[in-house]
Amino acid sequence: MYTGFQHLHSGLAYLVLLILVGVIGYALMNFINNKPFTEKARKFSLVGLIAAHIQLLIGLVLYFISPNVMFSGEAMGDAMSRLYLLEHPLTMIIGIVLITIGYSKAKSGDDDAARYKKILIFYGLGLFLILLRIPWSAWPGM
Ligand code: HEM
Ligand code: HEM
Repeated sequence: MYTGFQHLHSGLAYLVLLILVGVIGYALMNFINNKPFTEKARKFSLVGLIAAHIQLLIGLVLYFISPNVMFSGEAMGDAMSRLYLLEHPLTMIIGIVLITIGYSKAKSGDDDAARYKKILIFYGLGLFLILLRIPWSAWPGM
């Protein structure tokens, strides 16, 4: 079961990053060109949110079954163990929370530019945090 979840988490990570970059790029183009915030724009942002939430769920499962997550004080002294025990989960959760707030704020409102701006700021910050604490030394490479 561990291997399955590990591959799922590792594979979905590509999709999450790709979709978030796409959503942010799309919002940026539309923001610059003063385009209206359409239903299509909302749904595209929602796809990014759902991808992040599925990754969150899989990550949470993995956290409790992965042999790389060691619940001991000693884990704090080793950079890789600390990353898996603390830094990666915490940073990803904060990033996903920001994305969720961004979607909630952007999903309604009259000012189209302001809605795109919310996607840009919250999804942008969220993606930045996610990129900051991906275990790059172990990934990509399943
Ligand atoms: C541990 C797992 C999860 C947690 C803690 C979580 C938490 C949340 C929270 C706090 C919101 C914001 C609600 C709001 O204020 O509007 C939300 C929204 C949402 N979540 Fe999740 N979620 C999880 C997993 C999932 C999964 C697995 C999916 C999809 C397969 C999903 C799909 C959604 C969708 C579509 C929304 C947006 C609803 C909307 O505003 O239109 N979530 N989630
Ligand atoms: C957008 C959110 C996230 C992304 C993009 C992401 C991405 C990744 C990547 C790329 C890896 C390395 C996979 C490999 O070694 O092949 C990984 C490992 C891991 N992630 Fe995440 N992650 C996310 C969220 C989370 C969350 C919320 C948790 C836990 C609460 C979590 C727990 C783990 C664990 C425990 C591992 C180590 C798995 C192992 O190799 O044993 N992740 N993550």
